[in-house]
Amino acid sequence: MSRVLSGIQPSGDLHLGNYLGAIHNWVSDQDAHDAYYCIVDLHALTLDIDPNELRARTHDSALDLLAAGLDPERCTLFVQSHVVEHTQMAWLLECTATMGELRRMTQFKDKSAGQDSVRVGLFTYPVLQAADIVLYDAERVPVGDDQRQHLELAREVAGRFNHRFGEILVVPEAAVPAAGARVMDLQHPERKMSKSVSSPLGTVLMLDSPEEITRKVKKAVTDTDNEVRYDPESKPGLANVIELLAVATQRTTDDVANSYERYGDLKVDCAEALVELLRPIRTRRAELAADPGAVPALLARGAHKATEVASATYARAAQAVGLLGRS
Ligand code: TYM
Repeated sequence: MSRVLSGIQPSGDLHLGNYLGAIHNWVSDQDAHDAYYCIVDLHALTLDIDPNELRARTHDSALDLLAAGLDPERCTLFVQSHVVEHTQMAWLLECTATMGELRRMTQFKDKSAGQDSVRVGLFTYPVLQAADIVLYDAERVPVGDDQRQHLELAREVAGRFNHRFGEILVVPEAAVPAAGARVMDLQHPERKMSKSVSSPLGTVLMLDSPEEITRKVKKAVTDTDNEVRYDPESKPGLANVIELLAVATQRTTDDVANSYERYGDLKVDCAEALVELLRPIRTRRAELAADPGAVPALLARGAHKATEVASATYARAAQAVGLLGRS
């Protein structure tokens, strides 16, 4: 079975973009692959986050992911900081990556824009991400469209490491879904739905109530020409609603667009489809919350299993670069 790894930041409530762009595929990858999923708390330290909140969110992210369908019997779910090899491997890769290639990262450019002082961790963020991936010999990395560039960097750095030290690391590939890879903000359809930008009405949370989902979809910004057509360039708001309905009901965007004449009808059906898509997650999340004591044990098991794989890869890489092993 080929290996899969992906990660998610515990930086707030999960939203529809996280679910459709990534988690939905994580769930389906559990059966056909040996899947490792990581809550990347170290990456979250690049943002300003209150320590107690980070701890609570890391714990709650595990509940959210389980509710969304991750099954600890079929995948390995763990917290990044529980496996110390992530930071160790990141250092080996920092000595492989270049300033130039990190400076080109658009997420770094966006997040550092306008800041007087930029943290080094924000700059080296994608190298830690590359370490997350190569430690598990992952061939496949299910992510949304916004992670493509980071995945390219991981490929580049792993390839360079191998070129210098021999075939030590598996060069990973991004697995980006055909639909749902870039869910846009319902109020600002020119930008992606995001945890870090506050847009309460534009962001459908995975655990929103049916009423909240319906309200947000009905208020989605579209345009005024009243012609239903899938055209992301000139009608981004409408295209987003069409795409959401298409993904939620497993139809094509053209099929959906051809079935409607009025924006209002399209929005009503989109809201209903999203309510039904997310309903089981919300129900399961409430059940899981009744037994929160189960999470630490489950994460400990995940960390144990992840460490077995990660420590072997790190030992291989450390030996290859010439670090003297401790006896
Ligand atoms: P994060 O936490 O921002 O997002 C988690 C996943 O959700 C996807 N996503 C979206 N997909 C579609 N539409 C959107 N609007 C949307 N917003 C987010 C992301 O593409 C991602 O797949 N750097 C990563 C976390 C990470 C990681 C890794 C990922 C750390 N190490 C190793 C893969 C492998 C991040 O910040 O994702």
